[in-house]
Amino acid sequence: MTHQLWRNATLASLCPGTPDATSQDSAQEDPQWGLIDNGAVLTQGGRIEWVGALRNLPAPLRQAVSREHDLGGAVLTPGLIDCHTHLVYGGHRAQEFEMRLQGASYEDIARAGGGIRSTVMATRACDDEALFNSAVQRAQALMREGVCTLEIKSGYGLSLHDEARCLRVARRLGDSLPLTVKTTCLAAHAVPPEYAGRADDYVEAVCSWLSRLQAEGLMDAVDVFCDTIGFTLAQTRRVLLAAQALGVPVKLHAEQLSDQDGAALAASLNALSCDHLEHLSTKGIAAMASAGTVAVLLPGAYYFLRETKLPPVQALLDAGVPIAIATDHNPGSSPTLSPLLMLNMACTLFRLTPAQALRGMTVHAAQALGLTDRGQLAVGQRADFAVWHVNHPRELAYWFGQNPCRARVVYGEEYPV
Ligand code: NIG
Ligand code: FE
Repeated sequence: MTHQLWRNATLASLCPGTPDATSQDSAQEDPQWGLIDNGAVLTQGGRIEWVGALRNLPAPLRQAVSREHDLGGAVLTPGLIDCHTHLVYGGHRAQEFEMRLQGASYEDIARAGGGIRSTVMATRACDDEALFNSAVQRAQALMREGVCTLEIKSGYGLSLHDEARCLRVARRLGDSLPLTVKTTCLAAHAVPPEYAGRADDYVEAVCSWLSRLQAEGLMDAVDVFCDTIGFTLAQTRRVLLAAQALGVPVKLHAEQLSDQDGAALAASLNALSCDHLEHLSTKGIAAMASAGTVAVLLPGAYYFLRETKLPPVQALLDAGVPIAIATDHNPGSSPTLSPLLMLNMACTLFRLTPAQALRGMTVHAAQALGLTDRGQLAVGQRADFAVWHVNHPRELAYWFGQNPCRARVVYGEEYPV
């Protein structure tokens, strides 16, 4: 297998304890970066075999190198991981954006049959090719900003036929692009029109679909939208338990618009993550901390819905809950395709440090997807990198509205941006 050397870069390894993290000596440097000046990464096939300052590369390893890449002083980070998106859908909701600007609330629009349900109609009306082609465009936009791993939720089909179709499109995306796609079934996103007034019956139907979707290998996790315009705590429990009975990991859209006690429920079922969390209670924080559940914060949705209640960021940090950051790309609450803008907003709106924000889109995003083989530049991890035209990784959260990504490396193969 080819040994490749990626050298002449500043590495943001995101492994605070790495022996070569020389820049930690400087009092101003945040040790969370795991910075390595004059760094190099040796890969064998799709894996990292060695990481450190080039001067420390052992001679026998240097001799094994068959291909060298001079990164010209760029910053090298782990490939970004967007751990929460709703990328597969038809249509858009720019008109609802206008309605909200004129005073209608997100909940009002949803209760009037718009919102998620309007995207469900547009999605059902699209054939597979149209869904696939639009999702490819969106995935490519994320990839241009360094994304190497992407989670995609269903939730705009809301019938067995259409949920399966959307999940198949998501799987096909992962098979067709240099990108890992993890799929999540979010059939419990809203009650579809054919079940209007019969939410419990819809929940029963969803529970019965899960084994079929799993048998076809279509889902890596199950999610529910637990809220007043979504599903009740009892309905949420039914879906999550059905997933758990199949051995499928669970996640939750929790405490986005109101406190439903969803996070505590999800944490009690060892959820990989609880996402949004603007209205998370102290009890929810404690439950997530003891279960090791990741808090996925979504500054795009907070911003676009003009929320004023912040998620309890400091309390999550104090409790030791790992914080991930994602785009939440969807047509209703977060129509962004810029993970870098999310890093910036995680700092400006949620007061994370640039290092915490980047860890949120690498180390902790991997954890939110149950992945242990990526998110850091460390021996044994996948050779998934992003190469940036900046001097220091803090600039990734600093610039906004421009993209310094020069290339991605996926499983040891380079893709220029
Ligand atoms: O993550 N909150 C629920 N789901 C999405 C929005 C879906 C939509 O409005 O289409 C979210 O914000
Ligand atoms: Fe979402």
